[in-house]
Amino acid sequence: MTLKQGAVAVVTGGARGIGLAVVEALLTNGVRVACLDRPDADFTAVQAAASHHGVRCARLGADVRDQDAVRRAVHTATDLGLVRYAVNCAGVDGLQPSDQVTGEAWKRVIDIDLDGVFFSCQAEHEAMRGGPGSIVNIASMSGHIVNRGTDPHVAYGAAKAGVIHLSKGLGVEWAPQGVRVNSVSPGYVHTELTAHNAPEVNATFTRQTPMARMARVEEVAAPVLFLLGTGAAFITATDLRVDGGFTAW
Ligand SMILES: NC(=O)c1ccc[n+]([C@@H]2O[C@H](COP(=O)([O-])OP(=O)(O)OC[C@H]3O[C@@H](n4cnc5c(N)ncnc54)[C@H](O)[C@@H]3O)[C@@H](O)[C@H]2O)c1
Repeated sequence: MTLKQGAVAVVTGGARGIGLAVVEALLTNGVRVACLDRPDADFTAVQAAASHHGVRCARLGADVRDQDAVRRAVHTATDLGLVRYAVNCAGVDGLQPSDQVTGEAWKRVIDIDLDGVFFSCQAEHEAMRGGPGSIVNIASMSGHIVNRGTDPHVAYGAAKAGVIHLSKGLGVEWAPQGVRVNSVSPGYVHTELTAHNAPEVNATFTRQTPMARMARVEEVAAPVLFLLGTGAAFITATDLRVDGGFTAW
């Protein structure tokens, strides 16, 4: 994997979890990072990582549901240099049986997990000024399969299936400009999103995974960096499952 040192990457949802692991991996490779997260997010870990690596970094507070706010925030990332990379990690879950899902709850998940990814891609593509560039959207294996052993989350699954197809569509649309767009579909990963699960729920997930464990965030960040870099120069409009074999079973 080769990334261009000094180039700029926009990472949404980068303040913690998978996004933070992506931020750290990019900084390790000398890529400047514009980390976009909710206005009230705690950017301390991002700032500490940037200082540790001595690489320039910007903190952008914006809600990915707000198309104009995202465009304005991503535009400021160009102060760091030319935007070549983007990774869209911002997301939320919503576990509830379907007959209890209110319109508001449904809309929140779709707005953040699907519309938010589209608005981010739009703004990032604009900031790439005609390319070349590479965008990776974090989908989920829940966009491929229906999870067992947990409360249903149809809005989440529908949004993530949408992200997989959105990435394909944009990958094809922007291919002539050299802007590649792919998605990564993680299985179960140790983050704050899964930390609130009852221990027996995570134990069930582990049993259901052929590799018999959940992933570490670094194990998602590494394939993301591969897709961003020159090693993936001929890969676009595809989805990479990082699920320990879950969806093969
Ligand atoms: N953890 C898992 O097991 C798992 C599995 C598959 C896919 N994913 C996906 O990976 C991505 C990252 O998940 P994670 O586990 O690191 O979660 P996380 O909750 O640790 O991090 C999510 C980040 O997104 C940010 N965010 C949420 N809503 C936002 C909004 N409206 N605007 C801007 N930022 C917002 C949060 O502030 C947070 O920093 C999500 O898209 C999630 O669906 C996670």
